[in-house]
Amino acid sequence: MTFSPELEARFAKMIGNYPPGRQKGALIPMLLYAQDEVGAVTEEVIEEVAKRLKLTRVEVEEVLGYYTMLTREPRGRHHIQVCTNISCMLTGGEELFEHACRRLGIRNREKTPDGEFSLEEVECLGACSWGPALQVNYEFHYQMTPEKFDRLIESLRKTQ
Ligand code: FES
Repeated sequence: MTFSPELEARFAKMIGNYPPGRQKGALIPMLLYAQDEVGAVTEEVIEEVAKRLKLTRVEVEEVLGYYTMLTREPRGRHHIQVCTNISCMLTGGEELFEHACRRLGIRNREKTPDGEFSLEEVECLGACSWGPALQVNYEFHYQMTPEKFDRLIESLRKTQ
């Protein structure tokens, strides 16, 4: 399996940053970048990354099973992560998550039938002072309300 020339160059640089015998330190970033490009950590991605880092398939799968930001299933075009951890919970994060479920017609870790949105309830996003917080792909949105959420969904639907 090959990736885009840009990703191949990034992988080569990343692996080269680690001393001999320590290249497995590149595993998580490699999986994340591959996931961004391919859409999910597919069987092919697992095989390829394991081969390049001289790991067993099981070692890659162990990491994959632990980190929720890595997924085997393709997500929606807009992956929405709503924080319901303590600071966000105290400012309406749980209500916001329930609103998101109703608005999108899906539950946690599901995807809308048109593939536009996927939804995930997550732990702290590191934006505790501005809760409730959510993240769409890599973009943060702070002090969200149900009304702001609805406007966000409408604006995301219009993006290409
Ligand atoms: S608790 Fe929600 S961002 Fe930290």
